[in-house]
Amino acid sequence: MDKDSKLGLGGHSFIEQLGNDPQASFEEQCAIVSACLDEGIRVIDTTYYQERIALGKVLRYLGRRNEARIMAWNFFKQPGKEKELVGYTPYEPCHIDIMLEELQTEHIDILVIHSHGDADKLCKELELAGRWMLDGKVKKVGLGMVQSEHLRQLPVGHPITHVLAPYNAFNPGSKVFVDAKKMGMSAIALSPFIRGWKLDEIGGDKDLVAEVLLRWVAAQPMIDRVIVSMRKKEWVHSNLNAVERGPLTELEQSRLQEWIKRLS
Ligand SMILES: NC(=O)c1ccc[n+]([C@@H]2O[C@H](COP(=O)([O-])OP(=O)(O)OC[C@H]3O[C@@H](n4cnc5c(N)ncnc54)[C@H](OP(=O)(O)O)[C@@H]3O)[C@@H](O)[C@H]2O)c1
Repeated sequence: MDKDSKLGLGGHSFIEQLGNDPQASFEEQCAIVSACLDEGIRVIDTTYYQERIALGKVLRYLGRRNEARIMAWNFFKQPGKEKELVGYTPYEPCHIDIMLEELQTEHIDILVIHSHGDADKLCKELELAGRWMLDGKVKKVGLGMVQSEHLRQLPVGHPITHVLAPYNAFNPGSKVFVDAKKMGMSAIALSPFIRGWKLDEIGGDKDLVAEVLLRWVAAQPMIDRVIVSMRKKEWVHSNLNAVERGPLTELEQSRLQEWIKRLS
C-alpha cells in the first residue's frame, strides 16, 4: 500500500512572499517535491496562481504528476498585478481550463472554493464545481477558510467533501472541524507555524519549537491532514519525523502553554 502522510505540502513553498527563507530555486523546489513524494507526502496545495505555475513546472520536470494529489484554490492572475498576491475571485466557467493549463494537468484532485457569505453566489460555484466533476476535470471539492455558518448554508446535494482552515496551537478554534466531521467531511488544518513567523517570535531552539507546534496540531483527533509550507528539503524530513513522534508529553504541553501565555 502507498504511504500517505498526514502532512501536505503548502504552495507558499514556491513563492517569495509569506515565509522566512528566500524563494527556493527551481532545483530546490524539485528536491522538496521529490522528497515529499518519496516519503508519502502526496497532497500538494496551491493557493495563488504563481504556485500553480511553479508546481506544474516541477511535476512536469520530475515526471511525477500521477503521484501527487493537487489541491487548488480560486486565486487568479489579474492584469497589471501579475507579480502580486491578489485576493480570491468566485469561480466562473472560464477558470477551470486556466487552472489546468497553469498546472499542466488534466484534472485537479481537490478543487477548493474560498468560502464567503453570499449564499446565492456560493450555490453557483458549487454547481460549476459539480459540472467540472462530471467532465472529469475535478475529482473532489473542498471549502476553504471555512466557518461553521458557511457549512450550515450549504445546499442539499452539495459536492463538498473537505474543509480547510488555519488551525494551530495559537489559533485553536476547532468548532468548524468538529461540525465538518459530523457532516462526514475531511478536516485539513493550514498554517501550523503561522507562516513560520511564530517560530521566530517564540525564539530559542527553532527545531524544537517547530516540532512541538507541529505535533500539537497533527495529534488533534479531528484533523485528517496538516498543510505546511517548506522552502528547504531538510524541513520535509524533520517535519515528518516530528509527526511520527505522536502527541506531546505533559512536559511539552506545559512548555507550549508557556509560549502561548508569553505571546498573548
Ligand atoms: N495561512 C493561511 O491563511 C492559508 C490560506 C490558504 C492556504 N494556506 C496553505 O497552508 C500552507 C501553510 O501555511 P503557511 O505557509 O501560512 O504557514 P506554515 O506552514 O505554518 O509556515 C511555513 C513556514 O514555516 C517554516 N518551516 C517549515 N518547517 C519548518 C521547520 N521544520 N523548522 C523551521 N521552520 C520551518 C518555513 O520557513 P522557511 O520559509 O524558512 O522554509 C515556512 O515558510 C500554505 O502554503 C498554503 O498552501 C494557508
